[in-house]
Amino acid sequence: MTAPFVIAVDGPAASGKGTIATRLGAAYGLPVLDTGLLYRAVGVLALRAGADLDDEAAAAAVARGLSAGLLDDPEFRTRGAGEAASRVAVHPAVRAALLEMQQAFAAQAGGSVLDGRDIGTVIAPHAPAKLYVTASPQVRAERRWKQLAGEGVAYDEVLADIRRRDARDGGRENAPMRQADDAVLLDTSEMTIEQATDAARRIVEAARARWVNS
Ligand code: C5P
Repeated sequence: MTAPFVIAVDGPAASGKGTIATRLGAAYGLPVLDTGLLYRAVGVLALRAGADLDDEAAAAAVARGLSAGLLDDPEFRTRGAGEAASRVAVHPAVRAALLEMQQAFAAQAGGSVLDGRDIGTVIAPHAPAKLYVTASPQVRAERRWKQLAGEGVAYDEVLADIRRRDARDGGRENAPMRQADDAVLLDTSEMTIEQATDAARRIVEAARARWVNS
């Protein structure tokens, strides 16, 4: 039992990983970091500063100035923020600038839960518990569309967003979104959120038993 008990929850947009991470955190009494929020904050703050999201240096400067106290803004939860996040997330300098904050969170002695795209591969490659949560693009689009009810956006547009995000986050060599070799795949397409959480709990229980005996 040397390393802290880190639970890495990776997967594509609207796969259910955020809800699963929150519920795992509550079940095990662990703090949770939604790392997508960091990229969303960088995207929105870069736009507010009038920067071009394709400008890697400008986006990285925003990322270096980010602090945990700046993450409460409701605008970071909007559809536009998700799009901006995935555009700044392609820049290696942005990813590098956000690395330390995420690794410090994962290094907490009492353990933690992090959800994102590259937690099990880059941020916490030695995490004792790793899940890769996914679902079909259609199911994910429907979930996201329901979440965005107040934004008056059509389902087809949300599906197009999801497909574009998938391509940007995972569709190339060395892309951040990739299942770690030792992550357990959890396809939630046919599951309710309760069923998905129960399945995640079972995966984490097995990992915890191995970790306790290590
Ligand atoms: O998870 P969420 O949809 O909030 O993430 C927004 C975007 O931030 C993702 O589409 C992805 O481009 C980026 N991201 C990332 N690495 C993470 C978390 C999010 O590249 N660990």
